[in-house]
Amino acid sequence: MNETIRSILGRRSIRSYKPTPVEEEKMRIILECGQYAPSAMNRQPWHFTVITDRKVLDKISAENQKVMLKSEAEGPQRAAKDPDFDSFRGAPVAIIVSGDQDAGFAAADCANAVQSMAIAAYSLGLGSCYLASFKIAMEKPEGAYLLDELGIPQGYKPLYALSLGYSNESLGERAPRQENTVTFIR
Ligand SMILES: Cc1cc2nc3c(=O)[nH]c(=O)nc-3n(C[C@H](O)[C@H](O)[C@H](O)COP(=O)(O)O)c2cc1C
Repeated sequence: MNETIRSILGRRSIRSYKPTPVEEEKMRIILECGQYAPSAMNRQPWHFTVITDRKVLDKISAENQKVMLKSEAEGPQRAAKDPDFDSFRGAPVAIIVSGDQDAGFAAADCANAVQSMAIAAYSLGLGSCYLASFKIAMEKPEGAYLLDELGIPQGYKPLYALSLGYSNESLGERAPRQENTVTFIR
C-alpha cells in the first residue's frame, strides 16, 4: 500500500462540514490536480468555478429548492422540504466544473477532473463530495441567470461540482463493492 492507493481507497463522500475555511494554497493544488486529469485528445474542455462565498452557494441552493418544491416527483419534493436543505451540505467551498459543449468527451473529461480533485483533497486532509444535483435550477430557464452571475463561459455547461471542506462527519462502514464486476481474460 502506498500513499496514492491509500488516498484512492480512503476517499469518501462527505456531507457535513466544519465552517473552517479551506486554505488558498490547498485549493490551488486541488485545482492543479483537476487541470492535469486526462482528457480526450488533450482538449482540456473544462472550466472551474471556485465559490468560497457561502452567500452565493446559499443562493444556488435556494433556487434548487424552489424548483424541487414544484417537482411532481416525491423524492425531490421531500428533500426540498428538509429545513436543513443545502445542495452543498454546508461546505465552505464548491468547485463547479463546466464542460465545453463542442467537445464530444467533455462529460468524461470533467468527471476525470472531479475525481482527481476529490482524491487530492482527501490526501490534503479535506473532505469532499461529488455533486450533480447542484445544477437543477441553472438548467431551467428561470435559473439560467445563475450561469451569467457565476461567469460560466459561453458554450460551457455546468456538469459536476465538488464540495470541499474539513469534515464534520464520522462515517460508518463502507458499502460493500458489487460482485462479479471484473472479468480477466488470460
Ligand atoms: C456523477 C456523480 C454525481 C453525484 N451526485 C451527488 C449529489 O448530487 N449529491 C450527493 O450527496 N452525492 C452525490 N454523489 C456522490 C455519490 O453518492 C457517492 O460517490 C456514492 O454514494 C459512493 O460513496 P463514496 O463516494 O463515499 O464512495 C455523486 C457521485 C457521482 C459520481
